[in-house]
Amino acid sequence: MSWWRRAETGVAVAPSLLSADLARLGEEVAAVEAVGADLLHFDVMDGHFVDNLSYGPHVAHSVHQVSELPLDCHLMVQDPATYAERFLDAGATAVSFHWEVPCDHGAIAARIRAREGKAGLVLNPSTPLDERFRALLGSFDLVLVMSVHPGWGGQAFDSVSLPKLEQLATWREAEGLDLVLEIDGGISPRTAGQARDAGADILVAGSAVFGSADYGDTISRLRGASA
Ligand code: DX5
Ligand code: ZN
Repeated sequence: MSWWRRAETGVAVAPSLLSADLARLGEEVAAVEAVGADLLHFDVMDGHFVDNLSYGPHVAHSVHQVSELPLDCHLMVQDPATYAERFLDAGATAVSFHWEVPCDHGAIAARIRAREGKAGLVLNPSTPLDERFRALLGSFDLVLVMSVHPGWGGQAFDSVSLPKLEQLATWREAEGLDLVLEIDGGISPRTAGQARDAGADILVAGSAVFGSADYGDTISRLRGASA
């Protein structure tokens, strides 16, 4: 588990650029990189899989040009096969796409890995874990458990995500999988402890980081440093 920069600091923090001031995107990226962000979470919305639009590979490429942090792309799109390729072209380190999308998840993961990307599988709050999901875990490097319904930043944390993280951690242990567990949505210094305790390796946080006055202090508190 060493494909993000500061794995040695324990839980990793991935600020979600969705909540950054996009008119000053380069400055916002530099600011979180300077104060210890481990990855940059890049939320891609296509207006079909979710009822919103965000940004695409062109913007990802621009971010990649100005940052050394791994680009953690979360594809909320109906056509992950096409867009996984485009985000890898743009410099993505990890490409995650949704279990709820009808597609050949294993084949897309294999393609991402063949291009030396990290493949991630994402689960919505309303979607249960099942044996079909479990059977696919060996094909993936990352599972992203959503703790809000995808589409917007700034929503309230849904604790339905916590038993899923615990179950995934148990399966990982039982099967000796090299799998990273990530949680996304409503993560703040108040909710981060529950996510860490449930087994999260990476915390995505958008509004908590970019809505705060001191990004470094917020990132430290997400990691569990006492206030
Ligand atoms: C939601 C996105 C999240 C979002 C998180 O669709 O996947 O990454 O930016 O934002 P916060 O941390 O504000 O809930
Ligand atoms: Zn996300």
